[in-house]
Amino acid sequence: MGKVHRLSAELANQIAAGEVVERPASVVKELVENAIDAGASRVAIECELGGKKLIRVEDNGTGMDPEDAQLALDRHATSKISRSEDLAAILTHGFRGEALPSIASVSHLALRTRLADSPGGTEIRVNGGTVSSVREVGAPTGTSIEVADLFYNLPARRKFLKSDGAESAQISRMVTQLALAYPEVGFTLTSAGRKVIECPPVRALADRFYQLYGEREDLVDVGKEAAGIRVFGLVAALAEQGPKRGPQNIFVNRRIVKDKTIAHAIIEAYSVSSVKERSPEVHLFIEMEPDQVDVNVHPTKAEVRFRNQSAVHEVVRRAVGAALGQGPAPELQLRGETVPAVQPVTMSFPGLLGGIYPNRWSPVPVRDTTVGMPAPAAWTPPVVAEPCAASSASDPSMPPAFAGQAEQPLQGAIGVRPMIPLGQLRDTFIIAIDDEGIAIIDQHVAHERVLFERVMQRLTDGRLESQLLLEPLVVELSASGCQVLLSRTAELERFGFEVAEFGGNSLRLAAVPALLTPDESVAAVRALAEDLDGLERGTTVEEALKRIAALTACHAAVKANAPLTHEKMAHIIEELRRTAYSTICPHGRPVMLRLTRREIEKNFQRI
Ligand SMILES: Nc1ncnc2c1ncn2[C@@H]1O[C@H](COP(=O)(O)OP(=O)(O)OP(=O)(O)O)[C@@H](O)[C@H]1O
Ligand SMILES: [Mg+2]
Repeated sequence: MGKVHRLSAELANQIAAGEVVERPASVVKELVENAIDAGASRVAIECELGGKKLIRVEDNGTGMDPEDAQLALDRHATSKISRSEDLAAILTHGFRGEALPSIASVSHLALRTRLADSPGGTEIRVNGGTVSSVREVGAPTGTSIEVADLFYNLPARRKFLKSDGAESAQISRMVTQLALAYPEVGFTLTSAGRKVIECPPVRALADRFYQLYGEREDLVDVGKEAAGIRVFGLVAALAEQGPKRGPQNIFVNRRIVKDKTIAHAIIEAYSVSSVKERSPEVHLFIEMEPDQVDVNVHPTKAEVRFRNQSAVHEVVRRAVGAALGQGPAPELQLRGETVPAVQPVTMSFPGLLGGIYPNRWSPVPVRDTTVGMPAPAAWTPPVVAEPCAASSASDPSMPPAFAGQAEQPLQGAIGVRPMIPLGQLRDTFIIAIDDEGIAIIDQHVAHERVLFERVMQRLTDGRLESQLLLEPLVVELSASGCQVLLSRTAELERFGFEVAEFGGNSLRLAAVPALLTPDESVAAVRALAEDLDGLERGTTVEEALKRIAALTACHAAVKANAPLTHEKMAHIIEELRRTAYSTICPHGRPVMLRLTRREIEKNFQRI
């Protein structure tokens, strides 16, 4: 007799469950997404013991008739797609017909559901994948699914779950993300009898954001559209203060995703403007036509594949970069009050996303307005479309998808107005005025920012100017430091460093960047060796070089306690004005403080 046999349906479902259901939060995700697909305008989630004991999700969506309710628990049974062409542009969260049978195979599940025009509802109970009862019950319109004792029949799996608190936290994060994606749906999350999240339906994403995160003036608006990709949301401003890490909520067509391309674009946008390493808080919503993104690539749908990956990368990078360039200038303390800078970051989010979060791509019908939610306002695109012009040839960093699209002018022109320098304070700070008030500029930090961008600009354009040394310098390094630099001579050349082997653990420096003195070059080479030594190759090299760019800028910038001519001050201010990220230096220090006209007038009691 052969050894090959078919797995029982229960076992096959348990195996599938291993992929679909990782932990209680994934059950919550699947059930809430089903509710959203069913057009619910209210979703109530309840959990006990971090979802290990109980997860209940109730919705007021369409509900199911008795036949559909039974079929829904079968594997590969779905109402959401029917032909293979449908896979090319999936409009719903669900499409596999796997979630319910998977969850049911690893728990005690009870489903209650009723169609709006049906007199009674249906209740189905399933234990570990086996239906134990089907009966008619009274039930409100919609669906309620109870999942008890998750993984009770897979003890090994249950052991891998974290503490109740940790699982509860994951559930809260999941519900927060789902609620952000669907402002027009009301959400409540009750955990161990305590209301953790309560968000009535709202019309605008900004209102939902406020419900979940409160007033957040440390975030800046993102809004850009290009190449058929729309990016909007809020991201952490470039300021020295603030945590290094924050939640990263990223949505593609209202799906929660973890995507390397997007993550990389965000990091790049931050690292161009600052060398401070951090994992910034971002809430980014990315939209494109459904056929531009394949969602059928990951068991929990956490990952997606873009048809035009480089365009997505570029638009996200630019969108975030532009937002960072407009970040808030630091605030000035005056008479115990905090004076907002000339461009306070107002939560322009409400204006930016004035209408309801767009439903354009989604098949989800407009939510039931009987729950008290006003009908959605007409949605006007919140983002400025990038102008089209035939100048992409001048931008070699643009992917082909951007042919014909011009780069926006530098944001810095908005960040710093034309200013007249008056003089210096203690040979360290430039005092300047404009129509809006007085600025105190840290001359070193401002110049450092300007030079850093110049270095980065030259690097993207080609290579940094180099000066040949009359007498080559010899730098003694560690064996590994020496090795790592020798393996990167080409990149170093772009920075103007010409290095060669000199025997032992020494390097010969024949040329150095024109911006640096020979001594500073030696220091930079040592720092670079240290930075790269022991680190993985690849992107870290880029990061290390960026740090060197910052170091280069720092060494070449005018110092504190240095008298400046009026021309030099005017030059620094003018250069700063042209700079994209003018509010902080590459190390995250503030460039200037502003005292606004309004504040001056207020202090003189003129208003
Ligand atoms: N809350 C609900 N309200 C109404 N119908 C539902 C609900 N939950 C599930 N269904 C129905 O049951 C079907 C099966 O649900 P299930 O989650 O297993 O699969 P799916 O959503 O179609 O695909 P996926 O496995 O990708 O989630 C759905 O297609 C839908 O028709
Ligand atoms: Mg589903």
